[in-house]
Amino acid sequence: MTQPKIIAVSGKGGVGKTSFIALALKTLLTSNHGEILVIDGDADSNLPEVLGVNVKKTVGTIVNDFKRNMGGLPPGVDKKDYLESLIFSILQEEENFDLLVMGATEREGCYCSVNNLLTKIMDTLTKNYKYTLLDLPAGLEHVSRRTSKNINHMFLITDASKMGLQTAARIRDLAKSLKSNFEHIYLVGNKVTPDIEPLVKEQAQKYNLEYVGSIPPDEELAQYNLEGKPLLLLPETNPAYQTVSKIIKSKITE
Ligand SMILES: Nc1ncnc2c1ncn2[C@@H]1O[C@H](COP(=O)(O)OP(=O)(O)OP(=O)(O)O)[C@@H](O)[C@H]1O
Ligand SMILES: [Mg+2]
Repeated sequence: MTQPKIIAVSGKGGVGKTSFIALALKTLLTSNHGEILVIDGDADSNLPEVLGVNVKKTVGTIVNDFKRNMGGLPPGVDKKDYLESLIFSILQEEENFDLLVMGATEREGCYCSVNNLLTKIMDTLTKNYKYTLLDLPAGLEHVSRRTSKNINHMFLITDASKMGLQTAARIRDLAKSLKSNFEHIYLVGNKVTPDIEPLVKEQAQKYNLEYVGSIPPDEELAQYNLEGKPLLLLPETNPAYQTVSKIIKSKITE
């Protein structure tokens, strides 16, 4: 098996991160690239709905229960093995991919040891898949946490706004200053028309970000999201899908 690849999105709120992940998954599924894990890393996210998956349990609920019962573990039971088995048990297995939803965790008190265990478990888990797609929350906080330490392909999504581009540049700068291991960082414009594209490209260059494509404003995609229809069901001819597919194929699978 080739090296597992971790692909993530980040950027300002509402710029289209979750939609990008859904269309990237659709691309990997149609080209049949094998074992895929999708992680919803945003506590407020709607990725399961966008993918048409009904999720029963999140890592957050499991970890919270685990923290409460930690003292009650029978002697000889390894904490990491136990937590790992709980997390494996809530992996949502779909026909062609697995989904794990992080959900919200209680942050009070220092649970550093549990967080360290979680990081190790996630490292082990992602090694079982050819591709991991990670939907990260808006903003910069995740960069300073370990969740986004080893990402092979980071797609920063922006709309045609200064704030969108600035947020993307800040995430890149923070990742560099913290020595987070983002192997490749790209910028993708979303809801960018051909008219405005040259300006967005110019700004990307100014921030020294590699601009890899413009997803057009897409009524069909917006309508699917509005009606709660899974984006995986968009037709192959959908322009937003075709753009994401081209980006993923050129940067990841070829
Ligand atoms: N190319 C597009 N054309 C039209 N509408 C779009 C496009 N991309 C995303 N949208 C719409 O914009 C909204 C936000 O998209 P999405 O949920 O993917 O963003 P997000 O970055 O994940 O948001 P959040 O920061 O809240 O997680 C959705 O209603 C979606 O339908
Ligand atoms: Mg989202």
